[in-house]
Amino acid sequence: MNKQLRKAVIAGNWKMNKNPEETKTLLNEVLPLVKDADCEVVACVPFIDLMAALDAAKGSNVKIGAQNCHWEKNGAFTGEIAAPMLTAVGVTHVIIGHSERRTYFGETDETVNKRVRAALDAGLTVILCVGEALEQREQGITEELVALQTKIALQGVKEYELSRVIIAYEPIWAIGTGRTATSEQAGEVCGAIRGVIARLYNQKAADAFTIQYGGSMNAKNAAELLAQPDVDGGLIGGASLKAADFAEIVRAASQG
Ligand code: 13P
Repeated sequence: MNKQLRKAVIAGNWKMNKNPEETKTLLNEVLPLVKDADCEVVACVPFIDLMAALDAAKGSNVKIGAQNCHWEKNGAFTGEIAAPMLTAVGVTHVIIGHSERRTYFGETDETVNKRVRAALDAGLTVILCVGEALEQREQGITEELVALQTKIALQGVKEYELSRVIIAYEPIWAIGTGRTATSEQAGEVCGAIRGVIARLYNQKAADAFTIQYGGSMNAKNAAELLAQPDVDGGLIGGASLKAADFAEIVRAASQG
């Protein structure tokens, strides 16, 4: 296990917040605060804000991501956005399989897998979300469930493509609740995910693979979570909407 082998990535998931004008304002606050980051920094914004975000982040160290993409390249899929449309405008990252999409929009492990494949084919870096509900944690099936989500999502993904895949472990009970997983819980499940990658591919691939924790990560608890040997970064919801808090998390990851 060697953290030096992999890149730390702090990504903001803005969810359904901010219009294009507000996007520019927030990014203009964030950019100077994170310009010396010693980790990768990504802002995943609503589709409507992508152009404004790309414009604001031009020439900076902040990459811009989307929060979903469809598996077909084009066609009759009202309301969806195709992966090549994202790369065409300069988007580099995309979140796939967020629990809010699984819970509210009928996303399944199979559709997550199709979206992951399409995103990789288009040249995007995928932030693949996995995580258990509270009942599942209480049933003691967290690691089995997260392993299954990981295996299905990565079907057909080749080892050489793993440099463009990040897994975000997001326990559903910790999202937007202010109830963070303990650093031990986060470290344990991120370690289990790394074990799955080692079994699916090999240990070298697993050692180089970036795994984030997400779920009420904030300026106060980030350093402790990021100190876990298997936690290489964070997927940040609420705290990514506050420039100073987000920058503090980036600083914590830069020191890791
Ligand atoms: P919060 O940080 O608001 O809990 O959200 C986490 C999340 O869902 C990031 O994708």
